[in-house]
Amino acid sequence: MPPDRAAGEAGLVLSERRDVLHSWCVQAEWDAPTVVGGAGAHFFLEDGRAILDLSSQAECCNLGHQHTRVVAAIRDQAERLCFIANAWGAAPRAELAARLLDLSGFAGGRVYFTLGGADANEAAVRIARQASAKPNGLIVTRDRSYHGASQLGMALSGDARTQSQVDPAALGVRHVPPPYAYRCPFGSSGGGDCGVAAAAAVAECIDAEGAEAVAAVMMEPDAGTNGIVAPDSYWPALRRHTAERGVLLIADEVMSAFGRCGEWFAWQRYGDDGRPDLMTLAKGLTGAAVPLGAVILSNALAARLDHEQFNSGLTYCGHPLACAAGLAAIAAYEEDDLIARSRDLGATLFAELQRLQQRHAVIGDVRGGRGLFAVVELVADCATRAPLAPWPEQPPALKALAAAALAEGVSLATRGNLIIIAPPLVISERDLADALALLDRLLARFFPNPE
Ligand SMILES: Cc1ncc(COP(=O)(O)O)c(C=O)c1O
Repeated sequence: MPPDRAAGEAGLVLSERRDVLHSWCVQAEWDAPTVVGGAGAHFFLEDGRAILDLSSQAECCNLGHQHTRVVAAIRDQAERLCFIANAWGAAPRAELAARLLDLSGFAGGRVYFTLGGADANEAAVRIARQASAKPNGLIVTRDRSYHGASQLGMALSGDARTQSQVDPAALGVRHVPPPYAYRCPFGSSGGGDCGVAAAAAVAECIDAEGAEAVAAVMMEPDAGTNGIVAPDSYWPALRRHTAERGVLLIADEVMSAFGRCGEWFAWQRYGDDGRPDLMTLAKGLTGAAVPLGAVILSNALAARLDHEQFNSGLTYCGHPLACAAGLAAIAAYEEDDLIARSRDLGATLFAELQRLQQRHAVIGDVRGGRGLFAVVELVADCATRAPLAPWPEQPPALKALAAAALAEGVSLATRGNLIIIAPPLVISERDLADALALLDRLLARFFPNPE
């Protein structure tokens, strides 16, 4: 049945509810307002309300909504050339590849463009296996990670929601415990020790399988989509262990790049001691204006593929409209100094959340804050760290808190017991402060301190 246009927005809402299969939800429970526009850190509902986007949608609208520079670049490119396949050259694709190699310091490397994050990770695995001449080489990833919802993406992920849909072992994936310092799987009490132990567990896994059988290790270097934030000790140790064993290291920077963790790419925090062999990008690459992902490979890997057939590619890889958006997005990050801004505001955000932790017994842990990304973990009991609900279930009071925030004009992302705060890097100091004041009030209302 076509949407009842005569019924206006109401007809479209009905059609959205009835006709669309929405992702990551129970269809019968889907009940979201229709969004009709946006500007900066806000998006606009059809009833005229402006909502502050405290999660940048899926941590992807790093530039906020409708960034004028990006919109203009898409329009310009559309007027010149909407599409040409990868078999042909396209100026925005070439320019974007050169910019990415320059920003990442992967001199002499290459960029393989994809449609998003999951296929970037799949491609990175394929490239790692081919370039290391280990066509069936194992890939080591970790629990409580997220690498995408394609079949291999789900196998790579350590995600409780999708793990029953796929058999990681059959796809050559091994999982190790995460550097989850607040609940360290290795029993360490400090974050630094937990990072060291988690990196050592990767080395042990490689040694147990035999380095010749392992093609690559794939990890999120900093902020993880499932709420883990790697301690500083983790990534450089992982780099050392993998290099010593001749195993490639893939940084999944789909979420953590483009300022989200205070750097262009999160591994850059560690300088060349943190440089991976490959890294994957999406989300902030265009600020989500158009879907685009990428795999960046090192000089050495690129050279190995120079004279071999590479049998991979999707129709829209390196789409000119998306690449034009990517170029404009990079210009916007640079012109507005958004990477440094994220670092500065991220520190303020982190300090404010720590202050909230002192005031609310329900806050067990606050992590992140290297950029505009922070995780607030709620607990039933701070002393024992007992979770409010078993992961990944969501406590009803947290659901109610998020609904109350939306009613007050703030969109807040929650995952299990976690509140994820990842606003657009363009958010004003005032909006961020107001949103945190609202969070303070709502925590007191939905999770009052014990008498
Ligand atoms: C770290 C990470 N990797 C991969 C993905 C998958 O990206 P996409 O949804 O574009 O396929 C995501 C998406 O949330 C992510 O956060």
